[in-house]
Amino acid sequence: MTTLSKLPVILDGDPGHDDAMAWMLANASPMLDILAVTSVAGNQTIEKTTYNARRVCALLGIDAPIAMGRLGPLLSDPITAGNIHGQTGLDGPALPEPNGPLSPMGAVELMAKTLRESPDPVTIIATGPETNVAALLLAHPELKSKIAQISVMGGGIAFGNWTPAAEFNILVDPEAAQLVFSSGIPLTMSGLDVTEQALIFPEDFERIRKVGNQVAGVVADWLEFFFKFHRDLGYAGAPVHDAVAVAALLRPELFTIQELYVQIETAGEYCRGATVGDLHGKLGRAPNARCVLGLDRTGFVDLMAEAVKAYDGWEVRV
Ligand code: RIB
Ligand code: CA
Repeated sequence: MTTLSKLPVILDGDPGHDDAMAWMLANASPMLDILAVTSVAGNQTIEKTTYNARRVCALLGIDAPIAMGRLGPLLSDPITAGNIHGQTGLDGPALPEPNGPLSPMGAVELMAKTLRESPDPVTIIATGPETNVAALLLAHPELKSKIAQISVMGGGIAFGNWTPAAEFNILVDPEAAQLVFSSGIPLTMSGLDVTEQALIFPEDFERIRKVGNQVAGVVADWLEFFFKFHRDLGYAGAPVHDAVAVAALLRPELFTIQELYVQIETAGEYCRGATVGDLHGKLGRAPNARCVLGLDRTGFVDLMAEAVKAYDGWEVRV
């Protein structure tokens, strides 16, 4: 990517506090051009994540079409995470109402239109279950070549968080994840191995709040809310999982990445939804994922704190 050309991206997520912070980072970056935003069922129902996506875009001034994703996973029954993100899916600070219409198209059709119309291949940043991305690949295989790469927050080579083996985004829709991971499209996987290290500490919340603009205050409030659940589990800070899927695109030098062959377990009484990484090359298969396994936490927090400064002078009515 030259310094002049921006990376065209589609944001697909289930806001969700960490999705919202990932979108804040993406929108603040001069390196990215957000072409479309699509909601996916995950942290909350599709209706709630769609409403949240529209409110986050209004807060951040993201001027891109927004479309509602599929009602639920490809084959599984929905799972939601109200225990972490609250009944709205984005509990905490007041947010503006949506400031524009929801696209009349569904997420898959908006993604397809965006890919068709982009002169350059588009990066998809997927921070929820892979449902929409998989549905896009099923419905429009002819557009695979217009997807430059997929940056996924999901999985965990070493452990899960919703079950001992499975991370939430993958577990919600393992069949979708299997389709995406076996698509042959370049894929960067930011799993729990790195995102559980992407901790923003309470003192960092205050550093962000002191930036002093409206978005900085909201981000600090999101961090405080998101940290409540994790503090009770013994975390020293808020693991801002989804922001890693953006940061890994913007500042790859902050991260440790290993190319691995990753399979998605879709059966299994105990391991459904696991991302099984062939760390020792036992299978002799070519890698299908750039797995982000470590990070410079201080550099990550600096990136987030710098990003909120981009919103100086920006104010919306809440
Ligand atoms: O396991 C963490 C992931 O699940 C994050 O994307 C969070 O937003 C939830 O969707
Ligand atoms: Ca998410």
